[in-house]
Amino acid sequence: MASHVAHHGEKGAGFGNASSTGSNRLRIAVLISGGGTNLQALIDRAQEGKLEADIVCVGSDRASAQGLMRAQKAGIPTFVVSYEKYLKADKIEPMDDALVSAVDARQRILRDQDDEARRDRLIRLMAAEKEIMAHVESYGARLVCLAGFMRLLTPFFLNHFRQGDRPGVVNIHPALLPAFPGQHGYRDTYRYGCKWGGISIHFVDEGEDTGPVIAQAVYPIWDEDSYEDVQQRGLHLEHLMYAQVVNWIARDQVRVVTRSGGRPRVRIEDPAYREVVGSWVEAAFRDRPDVVYRRT
Ligand code: GRF
Repeated sequence: MASHVAHHGEKGAGFGNASSTGSNRLRIAVLISGGGTNLQALIDRAQEGKLEADIVCVGSDRASAQGLMRAQKAGIPTFVVSYEKYLKADKIEPMDDALVSAVDARQRILRDQDDEARRDRLIRLMAAEKEIMAHVESYGARLVCLAGFMRLLTPFFLNHFRQGDRPGVVNIHPALLPAFPGQHGYRDTYRYGCKWGGISIHFVDEGEDTGPVIAQAVYPIWDEDSYEDVQQRGLHLEHLMYAQVVNWIARDQVRVVTRSGGRPRVRIEDPAYREVVGSWVEAAFRDRPDVVYRRT
């Protein structure tokens, strides 16, 4: 199960570039549930010295998640928190009533009309989150990056990692939000018959895939494409985008701005922002060199 090979103040092996020893490097925790190709892309960038943050731990809700092995191979400590343990337990440790009420008032993921049933489920989720929080805290991570983590988080967890104005949890979603939220972004995009698919990286808020968008990119979907083609094209973009977003946050170039009465929105203060977006457009066409772009 959990293997704690590094402690607060240390870093996982394989991340030995000189600047990573500085104490003000951003420390990130990555949470996964499955294959972990996004995690792998972050590890690769880190090993190339191109990630401006340190991946200090990787957590999963599934002991069998293949991504855990990717982390271990890179010398990054891992941990597993079993949600099932909390969801199925006959009895669960009680939680402070006022805290549960406050979290319940803000959360937008549990819709059970029955107060008691909803609170019971909420307490169980919070108990699982508490265990994740303890792991993440023990490695001193200041940003949590969800990369295929298939659980919804409550405001209990989100508030814990918030850093002043900056939300503390980021997610990558395989669709152009607000289109196709939920667990099957690629499938829903493909089945709908979209001509373009998209990737969104966003801060996580109290709802499901509703938080402020940090970055988006699109890719074309051609008539002859299979579902796998679409997914592959999208994943290639995901892998480019996640490290870039982590770097923007690490450099403190991400501002959440709220206009009165409006949704919070994100401004990227990187002078190279437009260039980066252009590189994502180019990447979306990399497997179709026959496509000629024209500025009209
Ligand atoms: C990605 O498509 C990501 O956008 C979504 O889950 C998938 C995870 O893939 N949230 P991987 O585990 O990183 O390969």
